[in-house]
Parts: sequence; structure tokens; C-alpha cells
Amino acid sequence: MTTTHDRQILPSVILETERLRLRAFVEDDIDDVYASCTDPGLQRWIPLPGPGVPYTREEAEAWCRETAPALRTGGDGQQWAMVERATGRLVGSMGLVRVQWAAMNTEVGYWTAPWSRGRGYATEGAVAVSRWALEQGFRRVEIKAATGNTGSRRVAERAGFTLEGVERSAMPLHEGRADLAVYSLLPTDLG
Ligand SMILES: CC(C)(COP(=O)(O)OP(=O)(O)OC[C@H]1O[C@@H](n2cnc3c(N)ncnc32)[C@H](O)[C@@H]1OP(=O)(O)O)[C@@H](O)C(=O)NCCC(=O)NCCS
Repeated sequence: MTTTHDRQILPSVILETERLRLRAFVEDDIDDVYASCTDPGLQRWIPLPGPGVPYTREEAEAWCRETAPALRTGGDGQQWAMVERATGRLVGSMGLVRVQWAAMNTEVGYWTAPWSRGRGYATEGAVAVSRWALEQGFRRVEIKAATGNTGSRRVAERAGFTLEGVERSAMPLHEGRADLAVYSLLPTDLG
């Protein structure tokens, strides 16, 4: 890891799983990112760009060109576009976010495209990214999901995370606020 001042920067890596390639977002992803992020099923649980604010194509352009790359180079984590190895099609987004370098804690955040849900892709990506984070020396990897977000909670469980408890009223959504179920993965969980 490169050190800049008191922060560090994660190395830019491509991760490969049985069915997926996790690589940096590129210009060609803009249409699929826009289609995914305007999906009501995604907006229900991830209010991009913010609660009550509509998602525009400019948001997708900025994400692929600037925002996602800057999250890594600014020391805040790393964002991967998940693509199907067989077809090259974008199937989702997987990221390490809210890196706390002093504590070596981080969080996995994700969405899958509406055309690729229910195939185990979120779980496959979350396993890859969380294990990679532990290999980088992180001591605690979290997943936080709204208590009502059954699909995301199932992803955390299938990826081997342990439920710790609930943060009350922790996340603003388009419709009100949600309690967050907090899951964690520690190096010792993997034996
Ligand atoms: C939640 C989300 C990421 C799941 O992606 P996915 O690729 O369909 O997930 P997987 O195929 O890996 O499914 C993992 C498990 O969750 C279950 N699951 C997935 N979506 C579900 C849903 N909506 N309701 C109930 N169970 C669901 C699957 O059946 C599977 O369980 P199983 O292994 O026991 O069969 C996807 O629906 C999504 O992007 N939702 C909107 C954005 C979001 O909520 N992101 C997470 C914010 S914390």
C-alpha cells in the first residue's frame, strides 16, 4: 500500500472469481450504471445521489469517470465494476468503503444490476472483496444493510459475516429512515 501523509491508498487490482471479473469502472459502463442506478429496486435501499434527489445520467458519467477512481486515489477505499467473465456484461458494483486506516476497519458496499440478480453474483463478489481486504491487513470488514433489506442481509450471511446488532435510524432513504443491521467478518472467522 502507498502511504500519503496519514492515509494510505489501496493498490488498484483486478479480482477474479469463478464467474466474475472485478475491475475498475470505465467509460463504457456508463449506460449500464445509469440503467442500474435508476432501478426502483436499487433506489429503495440506496438513495443515489441522495434522499429525495433524482439520479441523472450525469451522475453515472461522473461515477465512471471521476468519483469511483477518486475513492481509491483519495484513500477512501476501492470500487469495482463486476462483469460476467463469460459475456463481459456489467452485472454490479462492489466496493470497499469508509476505510478507517488507523483502526484498519472497512465496509463492503454493493448493488447488482436488475438483469443479473438472483444468480449469486453479489455473494460471489462480496466474498472476493472481503477476503482480499483481510489479505491487505484489515482487521474488521463490515456489511451494513437496512433491516428490511432481506436480499442484502442474506448476501452478508452467505458471505460468512456475523450479525452483531442493529444501529437504530442510521440511514436516510427516499422514504423515511432505516435501521441498519450490522454484520462483520474478522480474520479469525476464517480459521
Ligand atoms: C441485494 C442485492 C445486492 C442482492 O444481489 P443478488 O446478486 O441477487 O444476490 P445473490 O444472488 O448473491 O443472493 C444471495 C442470497 O440472497 C437471496 N436474495 C437475494 N435477493 C433477495 C430478495 N430480494 N429477497 C429475499 N432473498 C433474496 C438469494 O436467494 C440468496 O439466498 P440463497 O443463497 O439462500 O438462495 C440486489 O438485490 C440489489 O442490488 N439490491 C438493491 C441494492 C441493495 O440493496 N444493495 C445493498 C445495500 S446494503
